[in-house]
Amino acid sequence: MKQQDKSTMEMSQDGYDTKVLPVTPESIKLAAKLLQEGHVVAIPTETVYGLAANALDEKAVERIFSAKGRPQDNPLIVHVASLPMMKNLVVDIGTEAQKLAAEFWPGPLTIVLSASDMVAKNVCAGLDTVGIRMPNHPAALAIIEQAGIPLAAPSANLSGSPSPTTAQHVYQDMKGRIPLILDGGMCDVGIESTVLSLFPVVKVLRPGYVTPQEIESVLHCPVQVAGAVTAPLAEGQKVESPGMKYRHYAPQAEVTIVRSSLESYISFIDKNKGDGVYALCFTGEGAQLPVPYIEYGEEQKASEQAAALFNALRLLDDKGAVTVYARSSSLQGIGLAVYNRLLRAAGFRVIDI
Ligand code: TXA
Ligand code: MG
Repeated sequence: MKQQDKSTMEMSQDGYDTKVLPVTPESIKLAAKLLQEGHVVAIPTETVYGLAANALDEKAVERIFSAKGRPQDNPLIVHVASLPMMKNLVVDIGTEAQKLAAEFWPGPLTIVLSASDMVAKNVCAGLDTVGIRMPNHPAALAIIEQAGIPLAAPSANLSGSPSPTTAQHVYQDMKGRIPLILDGGMCDVGIESTVLSLFPVVKVLRPGYVTPQEIESVLHCPVQVAGAVTAPLAEGQKVESPGMKYRHYAPQAEVTIVRSSLESYISFIDKNKGDGVYALCFTGEGAQLPVPYIEYGEEQKASEQAAALFNALRLLDDKGAVTVYARSSSLQGIGLAVYNRLLRAAGFRVIDI
């Protein structure tokens, strides 16, 4: 181990002695120091917790991939605290991105642009573009500012499991793998940022809290939504956002989405009840069901569903659910982002009644 590592972290044969600290001026200072030294730190953002490292340092970024078990061809999002910090990372910001940043930053919108040579090669995972966002979380912004470096940060879960919306979720997945987790409480948004590519057409690669309609109203041009958002990639189909091709957000249980009225859902569950069968339903519905259930927000409130979904998926695992039948979110507005995560958790199993 390098000499400088000893001052701020300890690592034994079994890995790191992972610390979970509340957000304070001291813990922010410690996080910034570890990041400057090339370590990985889990930080809260408004969307989900991120697994952060110096985006300009290939070795530091490599540590993210190994802590997460992430496939090498899936690029990372870079987090900045200011527009000047972003300018060094891209070839040209351009007017569209400037308009979007003015409207939505800090916030849950990632903009994909041509990457400059400063960005560590493995951040882009072989692409010539980089996805950048300014997180809307005071601790995240303070850490980036104090460290003075842009931070590459994927969601702080093990690759393939649901994204973490609390520090406890991060600890479950990252214990022993990283030196520090900053606990900023529950994430407000609860699902990852919208990923938007601007060239050759404006296209949402991953839906999120910022909706295609909101983007259209800022850019005054049509905004496409990548087909992979609501359907599995066909054999040989070009991957626009490498993250789309992996099974994601998946709990241990086998999840199936049931698209139906509440009435039909109740009778479907009644016919399919049995050992290990759970319902993932909307708030207020559970008491009408003949199986154990987890509720994930009100039917008409997609933002509540977004905030609750990943925690609900982890709770189902904790309870030992084997088979889960999930009520479907709507596909409108933020509902599309919820549906996109649910669909991946379900491995694209959908029943229409
Ligand atoms: O809200 C978020 O975006 C969270 C927090 C921590 O900021 N981060 C996050 O990162 O969700 P991650 O790595 O779990 O997801 C990044 C997604 C992946 O689907 C990846 O393929 C896509 O963004 N992506 C990143 N860079 C890209 C690029 N240059 N072109 C296309 N897609 C890109
Ligand atoms: Mg992720």
